[in-house]
Amino acid sequence: MSAGSSTSVTVDAQNNGGDIPQLGFGVFQTPRRETRAATTVAHDVGYRHIDTAEMYGNEKEVGAAIRESKVARQDVFVTSKLNNGFHAYEDALKAFDRSLADLRFDYLDLFLIHWPLPRVLDFVETWTAMEEMYRSGRVKAIGVSNFQPSHLQRLFDATEIVPAVNQIEAHPYLTQDGVRAFNAEHGIATEAWSPIAKGRVLGDPTITQIAQRIGKTAAQVTLRWAIQRGDIVFPKSVTPARVQENFAIFDFELSADDMAAITACNRDERTGPDPDTFNYVPK
Ligand SMILES: NC(=O)c1ccc[n+]([C@@H]2O[C@H](COP(=O)([O-])OP(=O)(O)OC[C@H]3O[C@@H](n4cnc5c(N)ncnc54)[C@H](OP(=O)(O)O)[C@@H]3O)[C@@H](O)[C@H]2O)c1
Repeated sequence: MSAGSSTSVTVDAQNNGGDIPQLGFGVFQTPRRETRAATTVAHDVGYRHIDTAEMYGNEKEVGAAIRESKVARQDVFVTSKLNNGFHAYEDALKAFDRSLADLRFDYLDLFLIHWPLPRVLDFVETWTAMEEMYRSGRVKAIGVSNFQPSHLQRLFDATEIVPAVNQIEAHPYLTQDGVRAFNAEHGIATEAWSPIAKGRVLGDPTITQIAQRIGKTAAQVTLRWAIQRGDIVFPKSVTPARVQENFAIFDFELSADDMAAITACNRDERTGPDPDTFNYVPK
């Protein structure tokens, strides 16, 4: 990790692709009609990393907001994800084309398999399509999301390119120490989704006490904890004041004791599905 101003803090994805801004902006459950405005607010605040997905239904609006902004395309890191239901080789290639067409981009910075769906289809076939996309030069980095170490090991054993990123649910109630350690061991950057657990950790007594003591909000303390652990985060908000608040986390540092106290809040509690059993495919 290299430190600097808030916009230049990056994590190096070692296996393919390059630097990823460590703080980004997520648009899961951002309604289509609000996505353009929210993304524009994030841009104006200084976010230069947007995390979207075909599943979120708002790629068109994300692309439009980026094109309309004063920021050049090459100065924004954009991630999208392969939707469930398109894991077969040819379907995956078509889904990637569709994401690019909806965003109206000629390349993506990062494309991820959204869910492994191990009970639906062998994701090795899907990853082979991801490798093909990467070799075409139309995506700068490829990775996975919600992969357990056993899923990653299967990819290592059967395919060539090691994922740049594994995007997993991680926050103070689900610290994911095992998966994060496995990622790190293989040079895979960890991206932590739902970094404030969709708001659930914001009333936690440990976190609120630290926040009060150091004069920051519970969201800022939680996001700062993730950043100091080395994870990449992209909190979602449609509320401009919160978008600003979540970005203002580079002017303070948590002590080792505060870091440890927040990590000790772990309850292995998910807000989302278990990747080993999740098998949802849209009709
Ligand atoms: N790969 C995957 O499977 C996966 C799954 C889930 C999410 N993600 C990614 O991770 C991103 C973030 O996760 P998430 O959207 O699930 O949850 P999150 O960022 O942990 O939390 C978002 C919720 O917290 C609220 N919030 C945001 N900042 C706040 C603040 N400073 N104070 C109080 N409340 C605040 C938001 O409300 P308002 O919007 O009303 O302000 C929203 O309800 C997503 O947008 C998506 O890009 C990926």
